[in-house]
Amino acid sequence: MSLPIRPRRLRSTPAMRRLVTDVHLRPSDLVLPVFVREGLDEPQPIRTLPGVVQHSRASLVATAKEAVAAGLGGIMLFGVPTERDALGSGADDPDGILNVALADVRDAVGDDLVVMADLCLDEFTDHGHCGVLDAAGRVDNDRTLERYASMALAQARAGAHLLGPSGMMDGQIGHLRTVLDQAGRDDVSLLAYAVKYASAFYGPFREAVDSQLTGDRRTYQQDPAANVSEALREVRLDLDEGADLVMVKPGLPYLDVLRAVADVADVPVASYQVSGEYAMVEFAAQAGAIDRDRVALESLLALRRAGAQVILTYWALEAARGWLG
Ligand code: PBG
Repeated sequence: MSLPIRPRRLRSTPAMRRLVTDVHLRPSDLVLPVFVREGLDEPQPIRTLPGVVQHSRASLVATAKEAVAAGLGGIMLFGVPTERDALGSGADDPDGILNVALADVRDAVGDDLVVMADLCLDEFTDHGHCGVLDAAGRVDNDRTLERYASMALAQARAGAHLLGPSGMMDGQIGHLRTVLDQAGRDDVSLLAYAVKYASAFYGPFREAVDSQLTGDRRTYQQDPAANVSEALREVRLDLDEGADLVMVKPGLPYLDVLRAVADVADVPVASYQVSGEYAMVEFAAQAGAIDRDRVALESLLALRRAGAQVILTYWALEAARGWLG
């Protein structure tokens, strides 16, 4: 047959395929999300997230050192307190679990790893919402911003290099930037959860942080069925307000949105491969349905192809140690 054009030629050997590969992931592109729980002596497994634990302060420090050794880009801390109240008082208490753990980690790793803090009230409130409630039980945007500002200063003092406000309140990036700058903390970076959907893929995370939420977050997180222009508007606002990076979350179910954001953002774009995405692969692999490592790597490459420069993934350590070649 006369077929002058044969795309298979470029797939003919491993060396040929390697030569023409244009999607690369390095350990430094990956960020490990971690949970630290107040009062634990030993790390505790999370039933819905096989292989992920709630850390004790000591096991978290050990993991942060492993993250440095593996060459990861960063570590993102979530705190799980023993006491909760309506205002989420543990969040900005310097002795609160998240802030003491941030200080532990920063002490251990210095500037060798970007130390990141989840900035949200949901782990600390007794109602489980990401903000404080008004008399009618609605999440009060502007009073929540005041709480976030206090939290930001506490996290900056504890040693976080970068704060990740994940509550989807209007104006959160601009308010935090102003408050940090006024406090002389223009050195602290902001990773905007610019686009965050009210996703059922967060299911396992709710167990990981012992969430107290009964309703849903649809008045602040975005509607999965909503238009992409809403996502682009959120990104534009966060960029105008001074975001250093912008994130799209979840990852795999929103690759179209990630691509659209990556096409317009002139800051690094991050993607959060969330707990449900991870758990689906882990449980399918446990059932013998898929090859876990290959599926996991394929999912990370998909996020990169769609435009993610930075990827938050519970597989960060494992990927950095083995899968990236
Ligand atoms: C809120 C927050 C959530 C996640 C990260 N930050 C849960 C939510 O918005 O309900 C989910 C992460 C995951 O599922 O891995 N602070």
